[in-house]
Amino acid sequence: MEYFRTQYGINLKNKKILIECRMVKELERCGAETFAEYLKMLQKDRTGEIAGGMVNRLTTNFTYFLREPEHFTILKERVLPELALKKRYGSCQIWCAGCATGEECYTLKMCLQEYQDQGGQLPNVRILATDISEEVLKKAEQGIYPERERENIPLSWREKYCQDIDKNNFRVNENLRYNIRFQKHNLMEPMRQNGKFDVIFCRNVMIYFDKVSRKQLVSRLEENLNPGGYLFIGHAELLSREETSLEQVYPAVYRKSENA
Ligand SMILES: C[S@@+](CC[C@H](N)C(=O)[O-])C[C@H]1O[C@@H](n2cnc3c(N)ncnc32)[C@H](O)[C@@H]1O
Repeated sequence: MEYFRTQYGINLKNKKILIECRMVKELERCGAETFAEYLKMLQKDRTGEIAGGMVNRLTTNFTYFLREPEHFTILKERVLPELALKKRYGSCQIWCAGCATGEECYTLKMCLQEYQDQGGQLPNVRILATDISEEVLKKAEQGIYPERERENIPLSWREKYCQDIDKNNFRVNENLRYNIRFQKHNLMEPMRQNGKFDVIFCRNVMIYFDKVSRKQLVSRLEENLNPGGYLFIGHAELLSREETSLEQVYPAVYRKSENA
């Protein structure tokens, strides 16, 4: 699937069976009888509708609340106090890149809220949450999750941040959804229109990328960070010294120099 690698960075080499299983329904949806027919439709399609359907099927969107929880402790104990000092009267931006169905950006918001509830001062914090899959972005925006996902949220947070919808689902409350913008964005393309970020979470995204795309992604994320800004990646994605000019400050947490 060279198309997928060059367009989105995702490496699907040796995943023939997975692709076939996931794409059967998509071929049906588009009215294609064979993969060859589907590829022709894909090439001719100017609306992006067919490519969008393929992205929805072939991306791995697995995520959950408080995934890799040490990162949120580091955020509360080191990053937020630093931001509070640096930007006392201003505002700052966090980018949740590859946000999938939104659990990660809502966890971030819960941490910010907790920090403030415990007396911490924060500037106005805006969160941008992006993904290439429109399907997951829609779910993220709604903030509605199946009951089993509530188990990952600490009890005291459940009471504050979750509201029942019905027997099977809950929704994160309105305060939590406030000040998060959801936007479709392909990480293989430059992020120009949103300014620079003080914190970027891009976790468990590049694990699916080939080496070249991973390198391009890391250098783009570096460009998008403010001096002194932090990059959080997945624990399975650690960067070597050759791959980044950022300083590693904790496992899977990197910081851009103040003088960069
Ligand atoms: C496994 S999820 C990770 C979700 C969350 N960050 C976490 O750690 O739980 C990876 C997400 O990255 C998105 N993704 C993959 N390639 C992307 C690209 N080129 N641009 C933007 N998002 C991408 C996928 O659609 C998917 O939702």
